Amino acid sequence: MAELFSAGIVGIGTYLPERVVANRELESLVDTSDEWIRERTGIRERRIARPDQSTSDLALIAAERAMADGGVAPEEVDLIIVATATPDMMFPSTASLVQERLKCRAAAFDLAAGCTGFMYGLVAGGQFIATGTYRTVLVIGAEILSKILNWEDRTTCVLFGDGAGAVVLQPVPAGRGLMATCLGSDGSGGDLLKLPAGGSRLPASTMTVEQKLHYIHMNGREVFRFAVRILVEAAVEVIRAAGLDQGQVDLFIPHQANIRIIEAAAKRLEVPMERVLVNVDRYGNTSSASIPLALDEAVRSGRLTDGDRVVMVGFGAGLTWAAAAMRWYSLEDRGTSE
Ligand code: UT7
Repeated sequence: MAELFSAGIVGIGTYLPERVVANRELESLVDTSDEWIRERTGIRERRIARPDQSTSDLALIAAERAMADGGVAPEEVDLIIVATATPDMMFPSTASLVQERLKCRAAAFDLAAGCTGFMYGLVAGGQFIATGTYRTVLVIGAEILSKILNWEDRTTCVLFGDGAGAVVLQPVPAGRGLMATCLGSDGSGGDLLKLPAGGSRLPASTMTVEQKLHYIHMNGREVFRFAVRILVEAAVEVIRAAGLDQGQVDLFIPHQANIRIIEAAAKRLEVPMERVLVNVDRYGNTSSASIPLALDEAVRSGRLTDGDRVVMVGFGAGLTWAAAAMRWYSLEDRGTSE
């Protein structure tokens, strides 16, 4: 069997739109309250992109920052994966738009796995590194969910936010990087979270616009139940596959959808909240951007340092889920990866 390389994160960067929208501001749009949103979701505020910004704009800045962080030049990038539910257009892919603006000759494709997109991208990108096919892969999670929200629907519009996060994957020394991963999908739950129109099933028409079918539709209660169950199952699966037990995991980074989902899963996993990264209070649910945003925060705040074991779990539309156990490779030691 050919040699397998260890895939690790050597650079990370984010971009958050400057505009902060606090819960109170939403009280004037829909019948809601700051108190309800905080108690039921843990969200206090979220970022909202400017009308002239598109997802590739956010993705590009996050990617440039990740490349600067990793000391990677555009010509080194072999592959760009953009995970998003809000691409600039149906096609060409947002990844190709980013590739053009980065002025590199990399392969590029978008990845559609709802809020799980970044984790699917991390696993997919890691395979290209592991097999030696590519040396440098950019994985970006970027979303402008504010443009696909029905701002008259209080059951969805208070939950989401905009943002982007990117990582640079490269081979790292054995014993660091991805230790175990899992991916999953249960399409029977597809109706629970969807954007019904604008595709080949219901092309855009006056009727689809009138019926508000170009917005997110979600059965929150069912997705909630699924989320708690799958967070626990996927985390246990990768922890076992990595040969660890819960107590050996230094940091858990779950998809940031709702603090109640995170707390319920942590309780079932018997993991104290001190070892769980939470930033849903400041950004809401940023879908594919949520895990790289949280990961960046963990690194910058010193909660994730060389040798730490981190478990990341995503879940979302599809229904889909994905998890990874990773032994962190610190940026300071980057020079030793050759
Ligand atoms: O990234 C993955 C995608 N999404 C998720 O993970 C979301 C998963 N689901 C959730 O986070 C929660 O189910 C929600 C936050 C969406 C809803 O919380 P809940 O505790 O499940 O509330 P509920 O749907 O059971 O609604 C309780 C009540 C309802 O009123 P009635 O029927 O009891 O009179 C809702 O109409 O709360 C009402 N409600 C609101 N009230 C004030 C729903 N949204 C709001 C709101 N403000 N924004």
